[in-house]
Amino acid sequence: MEENNYFRRDNEQILQAITLFCNYHELLHKYVIEGKIKSSLDRGAFTRPSDVLPEEIIKLLGSERKSNSFAYGTEAGDHLLRERIAELENARHKTKYSAENIAIMPGAWAGLEFALQEVMGFTNGKCNAPRIAVIGPTLYQMFYSPIKHFGAEITAFDFTAADKKHILDVESDEESIDEIFSIKQRQKPKAIVITNPNNPDGKYVSTEVLRKIIEKCEQQEIYVVIDELQNFFQWDNSRGLNYAAWIQSPNVIRIDSCSKRYALAEYRIGWIIADEKMLGNRMDGIIGRMSGIMGNAPRAANTALIYLLQQEIESILEGNEFLGSVKQKLLVKKEYVTRRLKVMDNIKAIYEPDACINLALQCNYSGTDMQLAERLMQQGTLIMPASGYGYNTQDCVLRITFAEREEKLEHSLNVLERVLN
Ligand SMILES: Cc1ncc(COP(=O)(O)O)c(C=O)c1O
Repeated sequence: MEENNYFRRDNEQILQAITLFCNYHELLHKYVIEGKIKSSLDRGAFTRPSDVLPEEIIKLLGSERKSNSFAYGTEAGDHLLRERIAELENARHKTKYSAENIAIMPGAWAGLEFALQEVMGFTNGKCNAPRIAVIGPTLYQMFYSPIKHFGAEITAFDFTAADKKHILDVESDEESIDEIFSIKQRQKPKAIVITNPNNPDGKYVSTEVLRKIIEKCEQQEIYVVIDELQNFFQWDNSRGLNYAAWIQSPNVIRIDSCSKRYALAEYRIGWIIADEKMLGNRMDGIIGRMSGIMGNAPRAANTALIYLLQQEIESILEGNEFLGSVKQKLLVKKEYVTRRLKVMDNIKAIYEPDACINLALQCNYSGTDMQLAERLMQQGTLIMPASGYGYNTQDCVLRITFAEREEKLEHSLNVLERVLN
């Protein structure tokens, strides 16, 4: 399928990508434990909780935690938190969500797994509809459990041909969309998973294409699962989620979390936005699949998150950009990284992101992305190889997270320059 913008992958190839991703992590831990790593641009958060939360909220996480914290919360998650999420979505997209359309999950990753179990009908140890189409690039590790433990049959359409566009958009031919709807002997998938924007490139699926996919899914009773985790810090205002009321379709299951946009991954709070029936209750639907993980987030983390959501709602209503000053500082770092990369030898391409804190690049290197990542580790820096997201390992695509301190960015880029020379 090289003549298209995408490569088609099956379970076996996805598991290979996951293995590469896991091998990379094992390798980096070895170098970290040996004390060799001086800088890391391989993942990160743009800020620390103390930069986005006032002191009284921070105290609630520890010394002043409320004594009446719920030991077991409601199974769908804190009601007030769910209300705030619905309110924020409605302010952004003119939708009419209520708390009943929101279920709190222990992170977006877990949310995706529970949602897939539900759409595949995993019941009594069996899945009656295991076929899932995935539009990549995306974080493949999230599909390990669905494949290995729940029998998912995944066909991925990885828009990762290095010299092409890395996203399904209006210019990608109509045939690509038809293919996605008719995987495996013309049998349609039960769900189509889209990461919007994608990871590692930070590119949005065009609104036109997304609407077309949703309409087709409504006609054919297919679910569209949209992972929106990387939707923060839009760099070009013309390219974003750009949803309107149409996104609130019974076929659409949206997944998000506070991990990236509020830099609070350690809270492990994610959420699903979907039709009430799909979300279910303690025994049924997606919520029912959480079983023992009810009550979810700690009370104090809920409080902190409600505060941040409220701030974001107010920014939208006042026409201000939420965390605008943080974004400005990040823009300077993004520009610094881009400037450095542009004058380096052996950088074949830089993929400008539409959003988020990552930037992907392709290198001219005699080995694979993993081999290059190990060379970089030996010289004291971490940069993420992109093969775990669906890139061909020999294409040597890396992902740089530019939300790091200036001296770390400089160190890491100096190492990259030396190694590529
Ligand atoms: C696209 C995407 N979805 C989900 C996750 C995991 O999110 P969480 O920390 O909320 O589980 C990540 C993490 O990097 C991601 O990139």
